[in-house]
Amino acid sequence: ASIPKYAVALPIPRPMPRDPAATGPEDDYTIAVRRFRQQMLPPGLPATTVLGYGSAHEPSTFATPARTIEARVGRPVRVRWVNELVDAAGRYLPHMLPVDPTLHWANPPGGPAGRDYRPEFAATPGPYRGPVPIVTHLHGGFSADYSDGHPEAWFLPAAANIPAGYAAEGSRYAPFAKAFEERYGMGWQAGSALYRYGNNQRAATLWFHDHVLGMTRINVYAGLAGFYLLRGGRGDLPAGVLPGPAPAPGDAAGTVYREIPVLIQDRSFAADGSLAYPAGRSRFDGTTGPYIPGSDVPPIWGPEFFGEVMVVNGATWPALAVEPCRYRLRLLNGCNSRFLDLRIVSAPPGRRAAESALPFWMIGSDGGFLPAPVELENLLLAPAERADVIVDFTGTASGTQLYLVNEGPDGPFQRRGGAAPADPAGTGQVLRFTVRALTAPDRSVPPDRLTLPPFTPIGTATVTRQVVLLESASAVRRGVSPVKMSLGVMRDGRPVAMMWSDPITENPALGAIEVWEIHNFTADAHPIHIHEVQLQLVNRQRFGGVARDPERWESGFKDTVIAYPKEVTRVRVVFDREGLFVWHCHMLEHEDNEMMRPYRIGG
Ligand code: C2O
Ligand code: CU
Repeated sequence: ASIPKYAVALPIPRPMPRDPAATGPEDDYTIAVRRFRQQMLPPGLPATTVLGYGSAHEPSTFATPARTIEARVGRPVRVRWVNELVDAAGRYLPHMLPVDPTLHWANPPGGPAGRDYRPEFAATPGPYRGPVPIVTHLHGGFSADYSDGHPEAWFLPAAANIPAGYAAEGSRYAPFAKAFEERYGMGWQAGSALYRYGNNQRAATLWFHDHVLGMTRINVYAGLAGFYLLRGGRGDLPAGVLPGPAPAPGDAAGTVYREIPVLIQDRSFAADGSLAYPAGRSRFDGTTGPYIPGSDVPPIWGPEFFGEVMVVNGATWPALAVEPCRYRLRLLNGCNSRFLDLRIVSAPPGRRAAESALPFWMIGSDGGFLPAPVELENLLLAPAERADVIVDFTGTASGTQLYLVNEGPDGPFQRRGGAAPADPAGTGQVLRFTVRALTAPDRSVPPDRLTLPPFTPIGTATVTRQVVLLESASAVRRGVSPVKMSLGVMRDGRPVAMMWSDPITENPALGAIEVWEIHNFTADAHPIHIHEVQLQLVNRQRFGGVARDPERWESGFKDTVIAYPKEVTRVRVVFDREGLFVWHCHMLEHEDNEMMRPYRIGG
């Protein structure tokens, strides 16, 4: 069935409501995860069952993407994250997408059938049908480790059909639960965890999403993602300089927003409107059938996911009415695997690339404002990267239609121009802008005259560390999804793969400034994300070549950087908070299957 394009207005996420009783020096939220139906496809087509976040106090706030957490620098946010993946009778709901029990994954022990899949996988047919663990990570946040959403800090719902005590003790993350209890005296309860975000970092476009070990790809795909906009402090601009307003609590209906978060994701839908995610099939090595003939547990994991449909803020191919003035768009690539290469053109893409109609003025990236605005025709965004941009529609005639298009590939990314661009009739299109009359004057500063907040670069590194991205010849074992990618270290000049369960190899001292040299030995580019830090890109160097500077748009603070194939990518990092964190590839299929490593700062 074909999905009509530009048939619905771009949904603009409203702010997440704080807890009704909240007063005092912190912003308190109770945010639950629930399963519900949402109209992602245009009206007339079926609704889609999704997982989403919302305020536990207000049922109408549940949506994917989530409502936006609006935070202020210096004012902490406390969130009680609640797993409410239960049905009306309080019994747990199994996942709506196939859970691969053969990866190194959360693997809740015990459970109704008493199954522990990992040791028994060969005897246990089919995907896991037990309760769904969740854990939330604030991406780009400078958080204490027990609030970081460690992949093994997951928890289950408090459900009637889970044995008493099991939901609380199900997590194998006892040290974190304990630290948590000691610091806040609240501890974990069955079905929820209390996290605290200090917000003592630069104003930035952060986002939160699920991070369960071996399930992140399906939990995020099902809908668990939202914006966290941190404002204020010396790293921000005074109100009125940039286009606005952004959605705020208590806005009148029909308020016109000129600051808009834009979450772009690719999805596939079945005819009944449900989200489709490949299962029981592996495209590994180009096969389309069960990976290992004769296995009673067909591997479910596939090395990447590329959907057929572009979804923006939870709606397929939406349209945005704009006025002839400046807009601030907070772009986020929330795709599982897809790199986006965005452009604004005046006609939907045909066989030949159209001229760019308007540039992007990029003013910020992952970790806040750039040193200076950068004018771009094309905007490259790897999974999890953010771009804070101004698009200036001033002077555009009313009725004009412009198109946000995607020229990234429908498959793995190597470098610009490395693979054919996305299907111009499908994933090559993202969003349409329709210009209408001006309703209020634009008093924002034109981007070419903007002075951005002061930028203090990271100091000199005293340690250089070599890490690697590897594509392994997979060890094929019966009924086990093959490990395709991994991280690792250089030892005696040779790359050595390290698994999630291997001892920690990255252990920077507290306060250390290090350069990490990321050697990518694989055939594709990978977005590498280090938790807890905002780093700076130093340079890149082809194996055997000369070093080249980062791109202009990569000159700010970053938490996710593209590591191109057969290159060394050098980043400079300050490790200024003790604890246990992770670093990983942000292609969710990769991080779910061993392309992720724990690392420890200090102690
Ligand atoms: Cu956006 Cu560790 O993740
Ligand atoms: Cu990867």
